[in-house]
Amino acid sequence: MEVIICPVAEQVGQVAAAKVAKIAAEVGPGVVLGVATGSSPLSTYEGLARLVAEGRLDLSQASAFALDEYVGLADGHPESYREVIRRTVTEPLGLDPSRVHVPDGSLHGLASAGERFEKAIAAAGGVDVQIVGIGANGHVGFNEPTSSLASRTRVKTLTERTRQDNARFFATPEEVPDHCVTQGLGTVMAARHVVLVAMGDAKADAIAQVVEGPVTAMCPGSVLQMHQFATVIIDEAAAHNLKLADYYKQAYESAPAWQKLDLA
Ligand code: F6R
Repeated sequence: MEVIICPVAEQVGQVAAAKVAKIAAEVGPGVVLGVATGSSPLSTYEGLARLVAEGRLDLSQASAFALDEYVGLADGHPESYREVIRRTVTEPLGLDPSRVHVPDGSLHGLASAGERFEKAIAAAGGVDVQIVGIGANGHVGFNEPTSSLASRTRVKTLTERTRQDNARFFATPEEVPDHCVTQGLGTVMAARHVVLVAMGDAKADAIAQVVEGPVTAMCPGSVLQMHQFATVIIDEAAAHNLKLADYYKQAYESAPAWQKLDLA
């Protein structure tokens, strides 16, 4: 696992965008992105949008797959992840909306939503780089603690903690749905690269568990220790509980030229 500790939160998005852009350049125009919602990746999307605006990155032929979607929100609900992805990813990054996929959280489509989403990912050739955040309880996507480490896209029940954490996006806490359709941990692990971004001390415990704790379904993000190309990009606050923080900094600073990111 590669761990990059940024001195300030503002740099996390810039470094993550540079990492994703490097992978996209290696893959070519048809790169397949996996995209999370939530607060953490917003600065990464802003960084990518800047690279696109400057003509240094072209994602017009890229595809994207969202990590998850709430169940049962009305079509066009501003907090449905379909809408959030449109506002924060599809439009600013110049993606073709017909190649942006979000799991179907409608009640009538639920039974087959997971299988259809997995087939769509496979048809696109798999995800090249999956961007994820981390829940304070260690969830990735909406794979809550005790999710199968081999799970694929399916319906899950949100924990009360996650519903409370996400209540800030809704007018009242009661409006946060109880259920979601989420990529499984096995689905995330099948992406060729995973980039995890996190900022702030509320994530420090989860990051310590993900990076240095045991691999356990009690901290779903810890499964990333088994991924060949997982990069964790965090600020000092989120790194606060890491025992080997100095080692990660030393490894990043002394990386060979070909591994360096273009942060211009
Ligand atoms: C979002 C998602 C969640 C969030 C996590 C962190 O699509 O699946 O796992 O990444 O809850 O959320 P933020 O970034 O808002 O702290």
